[in-house]
Amino acid sequence: MLKELWQYLSHPTENAVAKKMGFLTESIAMEARAKRCKLSWGVHYQNCQKAILNASKRAVQKRTVLVLGAGSLYDVPLDVLSTQFEKVILVDLVFLNSARTLAQQFDNVELVEHDITESLERIMVGFSFVDTPASWLDDPSIDLVISLNLITQLPLIPVRWLIEHFDVSEQEGDILGKQLILAHLLYLQTFNGEVCLIADREGVEFDSTGQEIDRFDPWWDVEPPAIAYPKSEYRWPWQVVPLGEVSRYKSQKNRVGVSFL
Ligand SMILES: C[S@@+](CC[C@H](N)C(=O)[O-])C[C@H]1O[C@@H](n2cnc3c(N)ncnc32)[C@H](O)[C@@H]1O
Repeated sequence: MLKELWQYLSHPTENAVAKKMGFLTESIAMEARAKRCKLSWGVHYQNCQKAILNASKRAVQKRTVLVLGAGSLYDVPLDVLSTQFEKVILVDLVFLNSARTLAQQFDNVELVEHDITESLERIMVGFSFVDTPASWLDDPSIDLVISLNLITQLPLIPVRWLIEHFDVSEQEGDILGKQLILAHLLYLQTFNGEVCLIADREGVEFDSTGQEIDRFDPWWDVEPPAIAYPKSEYRWPWQVVPLGEVSRYKSQKNRVGVSFL
């Protein structure tokens, strides 16, 4: 707990939105959870890395790879990407010191703290309006784009923020959530290079006896793109909340899928 408070106070972010809306707190909590759940999350990270390496094989040229939602970097095969590509651009709203230290070891890796929705500054002051992201679309050297465990996360904090601080209705929040997901999909589809989307496809909650108690769609009812073939390679379960992590009575398993757009 003390370590997490220190991480918060000492974080060098220049991004006011990340601190004010709670993204920094969330990243610190996630890093701590990743350490506690090393076993179950490790398998998920390995699967993500394999999928990224397969995506890299599909990229005809290897000038720049853009990784959106790179966060902790635990799911990024950074050494291989750095060898294969001339330039690696890692993007997230927040990079903690552990990720910064790792990235510094590579001369051709750049960390960019950036809001991928390009809408948060407006949402922070109460406007329930989603912009169309445009960053890097004018960079012709981008041969591979990875959207990494990000798309289903995009609505969570913004929608909660608007409901809690600006009296936005659940229904309006729901529309904004869908718009954020759709805008990201559209953004990915606009790149000329190869695009790989790694994301949760389903969440299932279980009670302490292993009985299913709830099942939800992390895509807010937006139709996700088809999972790539062979599905056995591009779809896996992720024990995201083992029993006892959040509650003694509940655990959660997500199903993750990979698509090439
Ligand atoms: C589930 S985490 C995945 C991160 C990383 N791939 C990992 O597994 O550790 C989702 C990431 O999305 C980032 N994120 C959420 N909303 C964002 C936004 N609007 N712009 C940029 N990054 C965002 C969070 O900071 C977080 O690092």
